Amino acid sequence: MPKMVFIDAAGTRREVDAPVGLSVLEVAHKHGVDLEGACEGSLACSTCHVVVDPGWFDLLKEPTEDEEDMLDLAFGLTKTSRLGCQIVISPELDGLTVTLPAGSRNLQKG
Ligand code: FES
Repeated sequence: MPKMVFIDAAGTRREVDAPVGLSVLEVAHKHGVDLEGACEGSLACSTCHVVVDPGWFDLLKEPTEDEEDMLDLAFGLTKTSRLGCQIVISPELDGLTVTLPAGSRNLQKG
């Protein structure tokens, strides 16, 4: 089974099993990783924002226009940002490494 690595805002790495066909958001929830995903993958929030390790970014399928639009709203957007609910685990993504941003817009303090 493929593995995935989540790195939290404090820099702690956590390697978990990532079943083929699940989204990164679903993998996170399965293992209690703190990735919100308020809309449960329906592209209506940006709280599942993850920063993909540059070494993996080009292996991912291109984001849809809807994903790009939602990403524009994400707090702390980077060049390798994606929405976790839109990345689906495939065998080629074994070892996929993503970092959880320090905060999402919903939690941002004014
Ligand atoms: S969970 Fe809302 S866009 Fe991914």
